[in-house]
Amino acid sequence: MPSPAASFLSSSPSDLARAADLLRTGHCVALPTETVYGLAADALNPAALAQVFTIKGRPLLDPLIVHVLDQAALAEVAELDERLALLAGFWPGPLTVVLRRKPCVPDLVTASKPTVAVRIPAHPIFREVLRLSGRPLAAPSANPFGYVSPTKAAHVSDSLGARCPWIVDGGACTHGVESTILDLSVPGRARLLRPGPVTLEALQAKLGPIEVVTRAVSQQIAQDAPGMLERHYSPATRVELFARGAQPAAAVGKVARLLLARRTDLPVGPEDFYLSEHGSAEEGARHLFDLLRQLDARGFDVIQAELAEAVGIGAAYNDRLTRAAAR
Ligand code: TXA
Ligand code: MG
Repeated sequence: MPSPAASFLSSSPSDLARAADLLRTGHCVALPTETVYGLAADALNPAALAQVFTIKGRPLLDPLIVHVLDQAALAEVAELDERLALLAGFWPGPLTVVLRRKPCVPDLVTASKPTVAVRIPAHPIFREVLRLSGRPLAAPSANPFGYVSPTKAAHVSDSLGARCPWIVDGGACTHGVESTILDLSVPGRARLLRPGPVTLEALQAKLGPIEVVTRAVSQQIAQDAPGMLERHYSPATRVELFARGAQPAAAVGKVARLLLARRTDLPVGPEDFYLSEHGSAEEGARHLFDLLRQLDARGFDVIQAELAEAVGIGAAYNDRLTRAAAR
């Protein structure tokens, strides 16, 4: 009989050993990373991977990110690229790189593509479970496909319920938005597929010019990787956007305003919620998904959300909000 609710594990050595055992024996376990919570499974076990897709309701066409402990483990699943040496300072951390795959990687991970997305995470709990399990771990964000990613353990149980039987509680995630995805699978070409905590500016300082995949091109990419879909990270409540510091349009009904920082210049009426003390995009990104989930549960007709300046992590913050607003 499936358990009626998810079981929470702590970060104690015995609980992490339990999590690693479960993963080694083909079960799925939700684990914290420094970006968002991931639904982890043994990346080399097709039966375990199949459960990830079932639990999330994720299309099989959408490939998974493989998490490894270090570059030696990375070389077992992907062809190394000389440009990785320039990126060494970003790992362990919130950077995912798309490389050519090694034959041992199951087609379920790569959606039968010749590439695999890999990341060396920094979160000590995830790293300890990687070490104890001795396996590369595939992990998409631990949310139903298309919904807002989880940044706290309770978000995972709230939206996946008993479908995800095990969750390691590591508290709130530091970055709050998913990793940056950089495609280096074609020699001499670098493409940013998803903005994230490792900023475009920081990557370009190491690699030189990087092609940013535009929204129009994203639609094309969506056929290969539905996770890049325009409408993604979406609450059920309608989301409308307005520029940083601008006045949101007048709206009828029960309106929530999601603001980067406190504002005194706005007309009264809507309920205001603040993502940061002083308007920092880092703090905004950290709290965005948590607040979107809270507001989504409160029966608002519309959430009017303030965009950040589109530099640094502001690009990732705006990307997630724009997708949340797409209909
Ligand atoms: O921060 C993160 O990246 C989190 C944590 C758990 O690591 N994971 C995450 O996974 O956000 P997911 O599956 O929710 O998003 C991964 C994205 C998807 O949009 C998928 O389409 C894309 O990565 N992706 C995976 N493999 C790919 C590949 N070989 N080529 C292009 N895109 C790929
Ligand atoms: Mg996701």
